[in-house]
Amino acid sequence: MSGASGACIGISLLGILRNLTGWETHLVVSRGAVRTIETETDKTFDEVVSLVDRAHPIDDIGAAISSGTFRSSGMIIAPCSMKTLAGISCGYSENLLLRAADVTIKEGRPLVLVVRESPLSAIHLENMLKLARIGVIIMPAMLSYYNSLSVEDMTRHIAAKALDRFGIETPGFKRWEG
Ligand SMILES: Cc1cc2nc3c(=O)[nH]c(=O)nc-3n(C[C@H](O)[C@H](O)[C@H](O)COP(=O)(O)O)c2cc1C
Repeated sequence: MSGASGACIGISLLGILRNLTGWETHLVVSRGAVRTIETETDKTFDEVVSLVDRAHPIDDIGAAISSGTFRSSGMIIAPCSMKTLAGISCGYSENLLLRAADVTIKEGRPLVLVVRESPLSAIHLENMLKLARIGVIIMPAMLSYYNSLSVEDMTRHIAAKALDRFGIETPGFKRWEG
C-alpha cells in the first residue's frame, strides 16, 4: 500500500484474501499509506497488519520479497501514489515497496498498480504508459457506476478486479453478463 487516497481499497483487498485459502500474503505499507490509513479509515495500522500473513517494514530492503529468488505470484499496489508510480517507472528502488515492484517486473511476474490521482499530469500519464508498455497492469481506482450501489461496493469491486488478474475469484463479484 502506498500513500494515494483510497487506503480502503488495499484494506478491502486484504480482507478478501484473508477469507480465501491457498494464498500467503505479504504486506508493505509506505509512510504515506500509514498517514492515509489514519486519515481516511477507521482502522489502525495494527488492524491492517493483522489481515496478512507477513508484514515487512518499508525500510527492510533485505526482506524476503526484495529478492527474485523468493517465489511470489506477483504484486498489487493498492492504492498506488504518483510518487511510487514514478519510482517504479525509473527503477528507483529506494524502499522495500519500490524494490519489490522492481523485482516483480524483472522476474516477469504480474504487477498491478491501482493508481489514484486526479487530474493526471503528463508526467503521471507518461509514467503509466512506460510501465503499461512492458506489461504492468495499470488499473486506476475508477468508480464503476453500472453494477454497484455504495462506495463500499465500488471499493470492493476495484479490489476484486485487481485480484481477478491473478485468477482469484472474490465472493459476490458482479460480472457483466449483458
Ligand atoms: C490524505 C492524503 C491523500 C493523498 N492522496 C493522494 C493521491 O490520491 N494520489 C497521490 O499520488 N498522492 C496522494 N497523496 C500524497 C502522497 O501521500 C505523497 O506524495 C507521498 O509522499 C507518497 O509517498 P509513497 O508513495 O511512498 O506512499 C495524499 C496524501 C494525503 C495525506
